[in-house]
Amino acid sequence: MEKTYKIMTFGCQMNANDSEKLSGLLKQMGYVPTEDTESADVVIINTCSVRENADVRVYGNLGAFKAIKRKKPDMVLAVCGCMMQQPEIVDAIRKRYKQVDLVFGTHNLHRFPQLLMNYLQSNERLIEVWDDNPEVIEGLPVDHKYDFKSYVTIMNGCNNFCTYCIVPYTRGREVSREPEAIIDEVTALAQKGCLEVTLLGQNVNSYGMNLKQTYRFADLLRDLNEVAGLRRIRFMTSHPKDISDEVIDAIARCDKVCPSIHLAIQSGSTAILKAMNRRYTKEYIMDLVDKIRAKIPDVVITTDIIVGFPGETESDFQDTLEVIEHCRFDAAFTFMYSKRSGTPAATMDNQIEDAIKHDRLNRLMATINAISWDINQAYRDRVVEVLVEEQSKNNPDRLTGRTFNGKLVNFTAGVQSIGEIIPVKILETNSFSLKGEAV
Ligand code: SAH
Ligand code: SF4
Ligand code: F3S
Repeated sequence: MEKTYKIMTFGCQMNANDSEKLSGLLKQMGYVPTEDTESADVVIINTCSVRENADVRVYGNLGAFKAIKRKKPDMVLAVCGCMMQQPEIVDAIRKRYKQVDLVFGTHNLHRFPQLLMNYLQSNERLIEVWDDNPEVIEGLPVDHKYDFKSYVTIMNGCNNFCTYCIVPYTRGREVSREPEAIIDEVTALAQKGCLEVTLLGQNVNSYGMNLKQTYRFADLLRDLNEVAGLRRIRFMTSHPKDISDEVIDAIARCDKVCPSIHLAIQSGSTAILKAMNRRYTKEYIMDLVDKIRAKIPDVVITTDIIVGFPGETESDFQDTLEVIEHCRFDAAFTFMYSKRSGTPAATMDNQIEDAIKHDRLNRLMATINAISWDINQAYRDRVVEVLVEEQSKNNPDRLTGRTFNGKLVNFTAGVQSIGEIIPVKILETNSFSLKGEAV
């Protein structure tokens, strides 16, 4: 019988793309995917540690595998991803989670086939985590979830050390892939029918800084815009401090580059931004957003905001609301500050009470949702081009997809349109999505 595998993925798109690589490697080894976790021969949990609840969920999952493995003792349970780059977490797994057979980190993912073989031969638990990886490993097989849209990681790591953030510790220093490798990958994807790529990096605007040649993110956008067959180029995330005029112009001019920018501002208070080590000010954000909106018609700008960072006063929070009212973001991911041990903010002595964090989060969400509602209303009666992605989870008669500028659309159309770009007329809108029908 064929051996099966199941991968559980937490965290961001980088982790999702890593899981696609693990899936590609497992398929190369002859394994087939299964949805039935309890019967799988290999289970991989790809972890995230960006906020505390991510950690807690992984520990809960690991706990459940104790019973699952009693019923299927030959199951191989592997754990990888960002949590494994923290020595105290690997220690906890070593001592308290004996059901885990294999541990590896973000820098040695390519070693997985070898580690699995070694484990299967010795039957002894194996822990291998590398501290850092100066080079990008090219040529791993990627088992893309969809044929028509794909993630393409263009850089690994982060050098920004925002004081709240664990990512620079779990993903190591920033390294960009060579442009040729990216262009070849995207060309090959387009030849196989891929219409949309999403370029991934913690800070895509600093792409190319470590390359020997002078080649920046704007160059990459312009080169990828020439790839035949490709229709849409998305990218994330943009750090406000590094988005150059050249990048803004490239987005405005390249017809395949989606006018959709995830510009994570984190806060609107200059004092808090300074304490976060974000290296920009309240005024800078507002001017930047004004400039982007002036240069790129129909642009969708989304953001991430953290409330309750150590020392955040009510007046700091008011600055955040003011910036949001000024910038009118299309949508925002909102988070309560979560203490990550090992980061500078975790030991700051002016931590904010949970009740205040909750209250600010509620007020923040109300402000954002009202703006999103308003912006989305303007789409009513418009005909938009939608890349049809899948059937809606709660209603199989409806399909979901995204507009060129990234708005989520629910609509009625034939299932055969999945994977195509079709015109949809918008009939109804709310804060989170547009609703319509194919025309
Ligand atoms: N590189 C991206 C962010 C990656 S993490 C960027 O800089 O834009 C995704 C989001 O998680 C961040 O934008 C931030 O809003 C949030 N986040 C990171 N660390 C956090 C923490 N300790 N507590 C709460 N939210 C956090
Ligand atoms: Fe974290 Fe800041 Fe790097 Fe984003 S830019 S990954 S928030 S350190
Ligand atoms: Fe989480 Fe690691 Fe991404 S910490 S958000 S999976 S880079």
